[in-house]
Amino acid sequence: MNEISLAEIFPHPATIPEQHRWTGPIEQRCCLCAGELRPWSGPVRDVWSPIHLFGSSLAAATAAAAKLHPAPADAGELQPLRLGSYPLMGKKEAQAALAAACQAYGQGLGEWPAQGVAERIARVEQLVERMRAARLLVVRALMWEIGKSYAEAEMEFARTLEYIGATIAELRRREQRQAEVVSEHGFLALFRRAPLGVALCLGPYNNPFYETFTTLVPALLMGNTVIFKPPRLGVLLHLPLLEAFAEIFPPGVVNTLYGEGEEILAPLMKSGRIDILAFIGSRRVADLLRQWHPQPRRLRCLLGLEAKNAAIVLADADLDRTVAECALGALAFNGQRCTALKMVFVHEALRTPFLEKLAELVDRLPAGMPWAPGVRITPLPEPQRVAYLNGLLSDALAKGARIINEGGGRVNHTFMTPTVLYPVDQSMRLYHEEQFGPLIPVAGFSDAAQPLGYVEQSEFGQQVSIFGQDERGIIALARPLLNQVARININCKCQRGPDSFPFTARKNSAEGTMAVAATLDAFSLSSLVAGKADAGIRPVLAGLFPA
Ligand code: G3H
Repeated sequence: MNEISLAEIFPHPATIPEQHRWTGPIEQRCCLCAGELRPWSGPVRDVWSPIHLFGSSLAAATAAAAKLHPAPADAGELQPLRLGSYPLMGKKEAQAALAAACQAYGQGLGEWPAQGVAERIARVEQLVERMRAARLLVVRALMWEIGKSYAEAEMEFARTLEYIGATIAELRRREQRQAEVVSEHGFLALFRRAPLGVALCLGPYNNPFYETFTTLVPALLMGNTVIFKPPRLGVLLHLPLLEAFAEIFPPGVVNTLYGEGEEILAPLMKSGRIDILAFIGSRRVADLLRQWHPQPRRLRCLLGLEAKNAAIVLADADLDRTVAECALGALAFNGQRCTALKMVFVHEALRTPFLEKLAELVDRLPAGMPWAPGVRITPLPEPQRVAYLNGLLSDALAKGARIINEGGGRVNHTFMTPTVLYPVDQSMRLYHEEQFGPLIPVAGFSDAAQPLGYVEQSEFGQQVSIFGQDERGIIALARPLLNQVARININCKCQRGPDSFPFTARKNSAEGTMAVAATLDAFSLSSLVAGKADAGIRPVLAGLFPA
């Protein structure tokens, strides 16, 4: 990417295709509580897009209040775009949401937990229809709120619906299996999965739709009641569905909260009435949430946390495939994935051609606005992320790393060009810290002990990717890694999917397993009714669980 295109990376409003335009601010003034959309007249937080616009009257009119993003220094009329605002709620609203969720659960006797699985599935299927109808709004909001490319936003949306469909299919299969009476050692029993209570679901900003609904829906299907707070970035995209929640589910089964975690999550957790926490984000926040609970051992946690996945490129790796997978693994959604490749080790024998090809490929990746066809690199939504990445970059450069790709290391407001750095070593922050952005640190190795040591000593333990052709070399490397991470990817990038595969991790990277079947288990517990075969159990089972 040359200087001119970087300077012109942000658009003039007139050049934005009409179907992708943000048509005006969305001022959300309600939350969902106890089955109703409650109006809000308290404080609000402005939502700023990572996308800046040239000469936009809409942008200019609101620029004065743009405190969240770095102020434009020398870009003329370039201004951040204000997308709207949402409620900043407090303790009182948190308590109301909690009371509604607890009442709807009713110690397991509420309408929702007591309802049959078939009826719950039918309601979720109604929700899916409403989600389908909201597709354009959700996809557009993903582009403007978090800068996700149109293609990736469409993928996130489609994947979410696919996940829900697979979850429903899995639940139906289980229902059939569980309908059979089990006979064992003179006992007859019927097994089922029972709800846990009130679930608090907190998704991350990088997949605010997918990773909210992939916990929220299983929680509902298993009979729990839910409070969900969207991530700080990616809030407005949920607005089109609030009415659907209110109309489809009994009052209090789904409740929403907005605002600062300290304000609204602390009272929820400190009440001790949250039974399961589903959270995807930083371990700092996960630890805080858990610590706030007065009886932490009663709190079930399903956590997806930080990671620093390594790619290990062996001397005989297929160069083209490896470079393509490493670039994709490191830079999909600008590297803002927990599963992104965040440290690359390449064998010295392949180092020079690998770096050349990687640099060339990275510089060719189309950069621009989320709606640009084929775009791969887009603006970063977190207000402080560019400054943080620049800090990692300066530290690495000061300690001897070089920027390998011609276009690397450049910034225009919220946009940062993808940057390949070599040689990165353990003296540098980038070797250890999760960049969550478009920096690709590369180290050379001649002895496999180095990348193995990296994974072993890491405080994270999610996944690793190994690239090579001779299976003996791959196996020799994979064997000691089997108990270091939760997934070893051979000749492909690290990733969560397919969604039927268990997604979990060791050390500080996760707790529990997310996947279609596993998440249903996470939001429920095994329960059974059993009795001696000769002591009247059969009619009881038949009465309790009619076919
Ligand atoms: O940010 C973490 C995501 O759960 C990873 O999912 O590998 O499909 O991007 P992904």
